[in-house]
Amino acid sequence: MLETLEGELARGRAAFEAAATLQELEDAQVSVLGRKAPFSQLQRGLGSLDESQRREVGARVNAVRTELTASLDTRRATLQEAVEATLLQEDRIDMTLPGRRPRAGSLHPLTLVEREVIEVFTRLGFRVAEGPEIEDDWHNFQALNIPTDHPARTMKDSLFVAIPGHPELLLRTETSAVQIRTMQSQPPPVYVIAPGRVYRRETADATHLAVFHQVEGLVVDEGITFADLKGTLEAMAKELFGERRRVRLGPAYFPFVEPGAEVGVSCFKCDGVGCRVCGNGWIELLGAGMVHPQVLENCGYDPERYTGFAFGVGIERIALLRYAIPDIRMLVDGDVRFLEQFGTAS
Ligand code: DAH
Repeated sequence: MLETLEGELARGRAAFEAAATLQELEDAQVSVLGRKAPFSQLQRGLGSLDESQRREVGARVNAVRTELTASLDTRRATLQEAVEATLLQEDRIDMTLPGRRPRAGSLHPLTLVEREVIEVFTRLGFRVAEGPEIEDDWHNFQALNIPTDHPARTMKDSLFVAIPGHPELLLRTETSAVQIRTMQSQPPPVYVIAPGRVYRRETADATHLAVFHQVEGLVVDEGITFADLKGTLEAMAKELFGERRRVRLGPAYFPFVEPGAEVGVSCFKCDGVGCRVCGNGWIELLGAGMVHPQVLENCGYDPERYTGFAFGVGIERIALLRYAIPDIRMLVDGDVRFLEQFGTAS
């Protein structure tokens, strides 16, 4: 028995040492220390020995088990270390490599211009007002002094929305409708701008889109004059196109203002001399005027006490001028090569 024991000790040590993987080590463990292994059989046979032999052999059995277990544990630790070392090696990250920078997008030129206009006016003390893009006939037309037979409200220009039970709904044709909503929602004084999308039945070409953007401005207070309008527009022109810009106002008709004006800005390219961008030195930029007393009255304001001015400017128009974009459709084509030329938020 002792011989077998020594043999098993030697065999076990060799087997553990020879195991190249944790799986092989486990197999070796079963073969050396498992229930059917000679060592275990021998252990079970101790009971048939007489007492002195049992003591002697038993002591040796215990010593051999301790040695085998120790040798097994040592080998297991070594193999486990090797496994971990391999894992570490495989997952290695070279911290000295330069990182891959995520590609930052750019803001759409219309967003840039809209934000800039908002910034100019919020600095002047205006607040931003909003209105729905689906409007009713009253807000979009009637309250703005556009009577039923006015050409601007025929099916030719407007996109009506077929919603059962709401025959009078249309996609707003101009942000001017927000003037009405603002005055209805608050008493004077009013100092607001209303940027937003507008819709017209229009075939797209180099200068037209059926969906485009405007910024509406509205001021109503006591003692507001035409000079306030001109001064405000001049401040905007200088902010958007440079300190040297001047504005000029010519007579124009818009049903909701009286008098109404067409506003030109001295050309930022040639400084008003005349060039390819402007032709005669002036760029017609927007419509404006003094709020019609009837419009004030339509909104419940007292036209004897309050006066105001309003203006509406196309965001696309400013973007085309500002960035020298030759065709308005480029703004909606979604061509990344075009869009990525514009900066990120300022
Ligand atoms: N709503 C006009 C348009 O879309 C622009 C406009 C003109 C707005 C004169 C105004 C204004 O507020 O006073 O053509």
